[in-house]
Amino acid sequence: MSRISLVDLPALHQPLEAELTATFQRVLRSGRFVLGPEVLALEAELAADLGVAHAIGVSSGTDALTLALEAVGVGPGDRVITSAFSFYSTAGVIARLGAVPVFADLDPATYNLDPKEVQVALQKGPARAILPVHLFGQAADLGPLLALGQAHQVPIIEDAAQALYATYPIPGRAAQPLGTLGALGCFSFFPTKNLGALGDGGLVVTNDPAYAATVRSLRTYGATHKHRHERLGANFRLDEMQAALLRVKRPHLDRWNQARRQHALAYQEGLADLPLGLPQTPWGPEHHVFHQYVIRVEADQRDQLRAHLAEAEIDTEVYYPVPLSEQPCFQGRAEVGELRQTYRAAAETLALPVHPTLGEAERSRVIAAVRRFFLGA
Ligand SMILES: Cc1ncc(COP(=O)(O)O)c(C=O)c1O
Repeated sequence: MSRISLVDLPALHQPLEAELTATFQRVLRSGRFVLGPEVLALEAELAADLGVAHAIGVSSGTDALTLALEAVGVGPGDRVITSAFSFYSTAGVIARLGAVPVFADLDPATYNLDPKEVQVALQKGPARAILPVHLFGQAADLGPLLALGQAHQVPIIEDAAQALYATYPIPGRAAQPLGTLGALGCFSFFPTKNLGALGDGGLVVTNDPAYAATVRSLRTYGATHKHRHERLGANFRLDEMQAALLRVKRPHLDRWNQARRQHALAYQEGLADLPLGLPQTPWGPEHHVFHQYVIRVEADQRDQLRAHLAEAEIDTEVYYPVPLSEQPCFQGRAEVGELRQTYRAAAETLALPVHPTLGEAERSRVIAAVRRFFLGA
């Protein structure tokens, strides 16, 4: 019996190996490694895919968030409302700019910021930005969040690191790609993301030419022209090699996301009658890209279920066992609201394998093993 892993990048890359290798060789021989034609082409392709005016390749998802926050003017002492149920970077970038992460509770249906809780945070004081995360590949409730942003004149910055090509339905309009509804959207090309580089990378998107110009200049030493540094920028560039390799993988993303969705639907069916919480898709499963497939079990059962699946050679993971409000680095640096749902989610959730090259037989093995845990034999 072979191990079922949470991600399988060698299997994902195997059919693309010849093309990836040829691409490596082409870039190697071109002698262009920084901000060349590959980065420009990837930016144009992703801008077209997302229907957004500006896409700017950067060094990581973390740096994408930093640049987006700087573009809207976040600085020391500013409050930025966000979720404590996310990867470190979401709040880390806020605090590193000297600003204050204001943690608001989540909607247990989506594990994303609850607009009502954001409103409470806004009533406590002005905010410089609202930073919703589209966790696990599903949209936060952007309609009410955008309305709140507009009412309070606070820009929305979307952390769409896990949600490239996921969408949010807006009544009367075509579904909008995540990352394009707020002032700026941020993506990660970390290797395990739905579209992963063979190293680090990220992307900032925006329809606002002024934000785009700021991000582009901050990305390259704050320069506006050669030898003229208007801003305190740094080096936040996406490598030419990574851009070229990402261009090989990008045309497959729709298909990979569709495979994830199919796995998710099979899990929903196969696990429906068990005493556990299945992922809810209030906007419809077609809008979700299932970066993770996350179930919810009673806190005292989660470790037992993990151990049971590990014994069956099935890898699982907990995203995220410690709310960011509990991380040592944010003590004394954050404003922490009532986070009941956040703590519950941290204690009860478990991610099952959902990667695109997971086989049907493997998926059935996962379902059977989870069923055995709850039903015995
Ligand atoms: C929600 C979220 N935000 C930000 C990041 C940071 O992206 P990166 O690892 O590319 O810096 C990640 C991924 O690691 C993430 O999952």
